[in-house]
Amino acid sequence: MPLVSAKIILDDANKNGYAVGAFNVNNMEFLQAVFSAASFEKSPIIIAASEGAIKYAGPEMLHSMVKTLSDSYPEIPAALHLDHGSNLNAVMTAVKAGFTSVMIDASHFPYEENLKITKQAVSLCHPLGISVEAELGRLQGVEEHVSVAERDAVLVNPDEAKDFVASSGIDFLAPAIGTSHGAFKFKGEAKLDFERLKKVKELTGIPLVLHGASSVPEAASKKFEEFGGDLKGAKGVPFDVLKEAIKFGINKVNTDTDLRISFLARVRESIAKDKSQIDPRKIFGPARDYVIEVIRERMRVLGSSGKI
Ligand code: G3H
Ligand code: 13P
Ligand code: ZN
Repeated sequence: MPLVSAKIILDDANKNGYAVGAFNVNNMEFLQAVFSAASFEKSPIIIAASEGAIKYAGPEMLHSMVKTLSDSYPEIPAALHLDHGSNLNAVMTAVKAGFTSVMIDASHFPYEENLKITKQAVSLCHPLGISVEAELGRLQGVEEHVSVAERDAVLVNPDEAKDFVASSGIDFLAPAIGTSHGAFKFKGEAKLDFERLKKVKELTGIPLVLHGASSVPEAASKKFEEFGGDLKGAKGVPFDVLKEAIKFGINKVNTDTDLRISFLARVRESIAKDKSQIDPRKIFGPARDYVIEVIRERMRVLGSSGKI
């Protein structure tokens, strides 16, 4: 199947109340793992490449690997998405390479500037059938005891979200509701602002995106530490919290950290257990298999399993 825009995938998820994983990749093994998991689970997928991933692997290299895999798995609806594009040049690079979806992330600018840049990305992408994501608010954890004013300063403002979606014409929105990137998301209990999320969904109706959505799975983290790693204090978004978020309108669940931890946990294990191994395939192969299992479990939690 040719690569599709993420809008096609996410509109179905929005209509039917489930979420699709956007899995960050930088190299061949992770890409193979995502397609393989999707094939086992019969799930649509969004392949996410950050500017860092594009710099590491090259935009054409990433696109051609994704295209090759997509041709080998014609039954899987797959989108290739630029994650956190920081400016229009990054968007242009992705568009030229054949990406089918982009995120323009101008959320660190004041509202009007964010809107202006986002509109420019929409004008560039929509005529080409490429979907556009934007973000409102800042991605950071918010402690339970902080004041309403402090929460308002960091998290998405639902009225602004309504205006932003109507004025920009974006296809899906990432509202900040208390998650953050990486393995250390919460000091105490994992709490997200679901009231805010519900309001944003009511006022916009479009697919919503949860960034910083990794769960930091216990088995992989334990393995990581058992073989010499240090993840002290790591905490992700538990599966039941993810399911709640999906119930209230999240349709795209961004996942990078879980893949990184699981791949490297298995790499650590192989290296520790076979100190004379010099064949990288003997190290990366089992790590790739482990990532497949982690992605499959996630697809079942998100409800995208069995959707194709
Ligand atoms: O949103 C951030 C993703 O985890 C990508 O991270 O910029 O290190 O590739 P990166
Ligand atoms: P995690 O760090 O929780 O995997 O989030 C990834 C992400 O939001 C990519 O855009
Ligand atoms: Zn993100």
